[in-house]
Amino acid sequence: DYYAVIMAGGIGSRFWPVSTSSFPKQFHDMLGTGKSLLQQTFSRLNKLIPSENILILTNERYLELTLSQLPEISEKQVVLEPAMRNTAPCILLSALKIKKENPNAVMLVAPSDHWIEDEDAFANDVQKCFDAAQHDNILMTLGINPTFPNTGYGYIEADKNSTSEISRVAQFREKPDYETAKKFLNEGNFLWNAGIFIWSVATISEAFEKNEPVMHALFSEGIPVYNTTEEKDFIATNYELSENISIDYAIMEKANNVFTKKATFDWNDLGTWGALHDKMTTNEGDNAVVRGIPMLTDAKGNMIYSETEKLIVVDGIDDYIIVDKAETLLIFPKKKEQDIKKLLVEVENTH
Ligand code: GDD
Ligand code: MG
Repeated sequence: DYYAVIMAGGIGSRFWPVSTSSFPKQFHDMLGTGKSLLQQTFSRLNKLIPSENILILTNERYLELTLSQLPEISEKQVVLEPAMRNTAPCILLSALKIKKENPNAVMLVAPSDHWIEDEDAFANDVQKCFDAAQHDNILMTLGINPTFPNTGYGYIEADKNSTSEISRVAQFREKPDYETAKKFLNEGNFLWNAGIFIWSVATISEAFEKNEPVMHALFSEGIPVYNTTEEKDFIATNYELSENISIDYAIMEKANNVFTKKATFDWNDLGTWGALHDKMTTNEGDNAVVRGIPMLTDAKGNMIYSETEKLIVVDGIDDYIIVDKAETLLIFPKKKEQDIKKLLVEVENTH
């Protein structure tokens, strides 16, 4: 049986002022399509996985948001974390939880905030990964053709000699430095990790038992019955005791049974305003506009985002991020977009 776990506990701080800690980017309609990124992720997965087998992992403060955006799921499918501990603990916990209900389950883990347009190609690739992970004791990743030495991604070294669609991974390296990333790109057989994983619940729990024995013991010893109040209490007490580490460092870099399938779909992790700009259809002058009726003169390369439909007049500005919200207006150079993260912290601490 197929299951999915959608990780929706991040804050997306580089998308401030739209993304805030009380209303993070995955709950926003960032692309102006009428659906939030979480809703898009859910419907993409729902084509392969029955909705009752899709779990949402998020912070307890986002329960209402999650339920209101996904009326097709029940409250028991939302696993609430009392604290942020990165992706390893939430993946282990959900794998153990599913395993208790169905020891033969195969699960997919997906971030809630990515851009994937071709849903059929995605479903096709994922189906092949499910087939592979169901029969073998392997940790499946989806690999993306890298285009520049991005240091914010994980890198997958695919076996040079592999002739099949699914190849063994010789090395998994999370967020290498710039020089290493450049070297990887030149090698030709390296892929970006899309952050989407497929494995059987048995295989991933074994990997944790071997590589993260303390965390494994914390969550596996005495995990109570699925969906009970006892389970809720168990999570609330044990979660905060867990190590804070991502699945990439905790498992993927260490395991020797990692495999990859090259993705046949276009992918973007929508990490910054600039990434959103790149993925949007832009008008003449390469401006991207989410909502609003643009009237642009002598303006190039701007990312313009409005919360409501309104007339937007811009003249004589290039390469800026312009965000209009009820209580905040941001006008910020695109080349400094990484600094927006700091703004969120500053503003949320002082206002
Ligand atoms: N539930 C929950 N709890 N979700 C979380 C938590 C948490 O504590 N922390 C992060 N997430 C969610 C984020 O919201 C996001 O959807 C996903 O987990 C991945 O976390 P990121 O923080 O965005 O990871 P990253 O971008 O630095 O790196 C990962 O993704 C890259 C591709 O986008 C890695 O897997 C890289 O190897 C990969 O290349
Ligand atoms: Mg990310």
